[in-house]
Amino acid sequence: MFNVAVFVSGRGSNLRSLFEKVRKDQINICAVISDKKNCGAVEFAQQNSITVFFVDSNVESYSLLIKELLKLSIDLIVLAGFLKKIPDELVDAFENKIINIHPALLPSFGGKGMYGMNVHKAVFESSAKWSGATVHFVNKIYDEGLIIAQRVVDISNVSSPDEIAQKVLNVEHELLPFVVQKISESKVVLKNNRVYVVD
Ligand code: GAR
Repeated sequence: MFNVAVFVSGRGSNLRSLFEKVRKDQINICAVISDKKNCGAVEFAQQNSITVFFVDSNVESYSLLIKELLKLSIDLIVLAGFLKKIPDELVDAFENKIINIHPALLPSFGGKGMYGMNVHKAVFESSAKWSGATVHFVNKIYDEGLIIAQRVVDISNVSSPDEIAQKVLNVEHELLPFVVQKISESKVVLKNNRVYVVD
């Protein structure tokens, strides 16, 4: 089994789509980690008997969490709407084993403060014609790890940031399960500082 831990902070629609779309005989979502006690994602995890861990931003909290994740033999950490910065200690403990989904086409519209609706508002105000979703490896700098895969959406006719959010969310729900499935099958390959997703 390929063991996955999913970090969340909110509604949990990406957690849900991941849970529903990956192959259950190959991938086990065995832990959900949240910085919020009450949120849709935690509720979903509890309803589906997934172990939930809560973290706050102090160092001990993450040291304990790392021990728990190692005990569970976690193969991949997925940030699915987790809005806190991942501490360096966790990045070091899971090198190239942490991925994040971002609701825009990185390297544009990323960085500190760029999450959720902030991203879609910035994209809308820029008058960009395309947006999309990006899945990338997590390193020690916000939204700067190597890009694994992207999906693009046409936003040339939208009339609000909410409309962009909905279009992007639809492709997020396809992209994240696709990438997790590929990683579990060793079909995501790092070569010459680029990432290749192979058949
Ligand atoms: C998603 O749109 C995700 O891309 C975004 O938060 C939302 C979570 O929704 N993540 C970021 O903005 C990270 N920078 P969800 O809780 O319904 O999955």
